[in-house]
Formats: sequence, structure tokens, C-alpha cells
Amino acid sequence: MSTEHLVIAIDGPSGSGKSSVSKAAARTLGFGFLDTGAMYRAVAWWCLQRGTDLDDLAAVARAARELPLEMGTDPSAPAVWVAGREIDADIRTTRVSEVVSKVATNTQVRPVLQQRQRELIRELAERDGGVVAEGRDITTVVAPDADVRILLTASVEARLRRRSKELHGTAASAAIDATRDQIVRRDRDDSTVSDFMEAAAGVTLVDTSDLDFEGSVQAVLDVVRARRQQLAPSQG
Ligand code: DC
Repeated sequence: MSTEHLVIAIDGPSGSGKSSVSKAAARTLGFGFLDTGAMYRAVAWWCLQRGTDLDDLAAVARAARELPLEMGTDPSAPAVWVAGREIDADIRTTRVSEVVSKVATNTQVRPVLQQRQRELIRELAERDGGVVAEGRDITTVVAPDADVRILLTASVEARLRRRSKELHGTAASAAIDATRDQIVRRDRDDSTVSDFMEAAAGVTLVDTSDLDFEGSVQAVLDVVRARRQQLAPSQG
């Protein structure tokens, strides 16, 4: 652990606000940002592009190893490139969202991406003085020794409401129903390989059900500040 290179790990389920809150926290702190979910999405997109059968575990793991992936880690303009092509919009399509759990639950893929994530976290922490890495298994598997470990959560109703507004511009009941697959089914599938519904020992739970965006960012920054004080009492 180091106060010079602060590693902040944030996990949480879909719709917890994890991605936007992590980005904003990284911006405020002047740190790098790593969206690990985007890496699973990039593998899914690449396999769809190349016609790789997502049920062929070894073929998808090979694709993950060979993927010419570059992660943009500036929290003000995070981007994902594969073979020089920017694929930010491509990896957020409904098609990719529907199938990405197949990649994320592939136990031959996970160690490949987890290793890349560890390397990126190390590089960013050194380059920017700190990094905020977000995902499902960062606090437990990728960086269990991170200086700050947070599980960002919210009630299923709050998460459905938020994601529904994001995807459909409304939280009317039809839109909520259409969003259920992206929240409830996906989290159920993803929970079979990582535990991101309950905080592991040493992980601070931040429940954003009753917080707005600014309040959620502030709650995360408060945990970071408290932890920094513990690590270096004289520096505050
Ligand atoms: O956060 P997201 O929706 O972009 O994540 C995409 C998929 O990757 C989702 O199925 C969860 C999974 N994921 C994971 O298994 N481990 C991570 N560290 C990050 C995401």
C-alpha cells in the first residue's frame, strides 16, 4: 500500500452508478480511470465481429489473449480502441449488452483480462499518482490489496429506474420492464463468477439508493479522504 500511488477499487452491480461516479471521482482526484467492464465488452464485440462462437470457451479465451485492445484511461474522455478503431459506441449496443455475460462468465477469459487489468492499474497508479478502477471483482480478485476498496450499491428499484432513464429516457413501467434483462438477469449471471452484491471483509459499502449523482460522488470521495488520513495522518 502506498499513499503516493493510490489504488481505488470500486465494484458494484449494474445501475449502481459505479461507472459515472468512478469517473467523476477520478477526475476530481486527478487520477487515471479504468473501466474493466469495457474490456469484457470489447472481447464480446470482437467475437461477434469475427463470428467466434461465444459458447466455445477456449476460442473466446484465445480471442481475449489476442485482442489488440487499447484502453483510454483519461476520466474526462475514456475510450476503447481495438486495432486502432474506436469502439465506444459499438460496445454499448443492446446486442453486446445481451451477450457480454457469456464472456464475463467464461472462466478461461477472466484470468486473461484480470492480468491485463492488474498491469494497467499498476501503470496508471505510477503515471497519474493514483487510479480508480471499477468493475465486479476489483476489490476481491484483481486488486484485493488496493488502498481504498468500495462496494457501490443501490436497491434494485433505484438501479432499474436509473438504467431505464439512461436507456429509454423514462422510468415508466414499460421502460422498467424492458430494462429488467440488463439489470436483474445480467447481475444474476455475473454473480455466478464474482460476488459483488455483498461487501467482502475490509470493503466499505456505499449505498446510493437515496443519493443523487453529486451525493454519490461525494460519498466515495469521503471514503477516500478518510482512508488517506489513516494511511498518512500528517498529510490529511
Ligand atoms: O459494467 P458493465 O456492464 O460494462 O460490464 C460488462 C460485463 O462485464 C457485465 O456482464 C459484468 C462483467 N464484468 C465482470 O464480470 N467483471 C468486471 N471486473 C467488470 C465487468
